[in-house]
Amino acid sequence: MDKLRMVGGTPLKGEVVIAGAKNAALPILCACLLTDQAIVLRNVPDLQDVRTMLKLLQEIGVTVTFPDKADRSHMVLDAAVIKSSEATYEMVKTMRASILVLGPLLTRMHSAKVSLPGGCAIGARPVDQHIKGLKAMGATIKIKSGYIQAETKLPLGRLKGASILTDMITVTGTENLLMAATLASGTTILENAAREPEVGDLAELLVKMGAKISGIGTDRLVIEGVEKLHGAEHAVIPDRIEAGTFLCAVAAAGGEVLVKHCRPDTLDAVITKLKDAGLEIEVGPDWIKARMQGRPKAVSFRTSEYPAFPTDMQAQLMAVNAIASGSSTITETIFENRFMHVQELNRLGADIAIEGNTAIVQGEEKLSGAIVMATDLRASASLVIAGLAAQGETQVDRIYHLDRGYDRMEQKLTLLGANIERIK
Ligand code: EPZ
Repeated sequence: MDKLRMVGGTPLKGEVVIAGAKNAALPILCACLLTDQAIVLRNVPDLQDVRTMLKLLQEIGVTVTFPDKADRSHMVLDAAVIKSSEATYEMVKTMRASILVLGPLLTRMHSAKVSLPGGCAIGARPVDQHIKGLKAMGATIKIKSGYIQAETKLPLGRLKGASILTDMITVTGTENLLMAATLASGTTILENAAREPEVGDLAELLVKMGAKISGIGTDRLVIEGVEKLHGAEHAVIPDRIEAGTFLCAVAAAGGEVLVKHCRPDTLDAVITKLKDAGLEIEVGPDWIKARMQGRPKAVSFRTSEYPAFPTDMQAQLMAVNAIASGSSTITETIFENRFMHVQELNRLGADIAIEGNTAIVQGEEKLSGAIVMATDLRASASLVIAGLAAQGETQVDRIYHLDRGYDRMEQKLTLLGANIERIK
């Protein structure tokens, strides 16, 4: 298994280009199942999770072509022929986002068999709201031997529009139901819909494909079902979490970095907190200039749904707090077990205690390098950030977690002057 080895203490300097958003690309790839015409995508990030999703789609029958062999961010997906409506356990167990084929397959093929995603490191992450919504749209759903078996009732054969209020705000739940509703007969209203920018990006593509959606960006989406959707072209929105991760790296390691090809307007809560921590930030339409001199100040925060502080940035800002002056409290309200980076940060000399869903961080002057282990995607990013600030050498094991959501992070950090390398 690959490892990352780094020696901390070097401030970061230079420019970094942000890739397309993983959490927009994954539902957007599944949207191709909604039409028999080609979908042309650009700015798709080259990540392990994207490669996993492409493999699943190809097993279902989608042809994937890269017009320019050298450019894996530009691809054409064609779901003219669906040869299987099944997402096997083998596929789903490696990536929970595979659940996003359920809505599209059911509404296009009138049947779908998708393995129930198991739990994952950060929480149980059930999909009961996805199922509740599809049932409201007329699907008959059985859970049998670990699979979700969904059918639309004949003779109509199509899902029917419904008014759905999810018990909590769910990002992929909103995306699954939104995609299913585009081809249902009648109107669907999604109340308590997720407002994450990645949901909006998916909705923009669906509208280009001929879907009738209003309320994009709000917590109430209204979808008029149509008979068919057609092909479209779309560039995936830049990844706000990758951009936020690099901003935290500058806050922890110091230096001056220009973050390019990003969307500052999707990072308000993160930018506000980092400014409170002492990061000097200047923003343009698609760039952020960040400069850090001296030690960051501790900032307390709690995670919540968009537009509040994102849970996917919690571990990264905790790494900054670990070396900040003062103490801070971090409350995680979305997932029940998203503090696995705490024990690893403490191995680097951090002083963090957990009480329920709150972490109390006493900022330390310095961390000292050690061997630590990544446990999940954002925890890995947090350990890299802490390693860049720690004295001496840090080695992060199991970085396959990192590769799921970051495209060659160590190469981007090396270009910024960090002393970091991947060990096969
Ligand atoms: C998406 O996961 C993201 N993944 C996650 O990013 C992100 O952390 C999360 O949204 C929250 O923003 C993708 O978009 C592929 P949820 P998702 O459904 O959709 C509970 C990363 O690091 N819930 O919004 O699975 C659930 O247990 C990943 O990039 C139910 O109880 O999250 C959680 O407590 C990690 N029943 C809360 O709701 C359901 O049917 C929010 O989950 C659905 C969700």
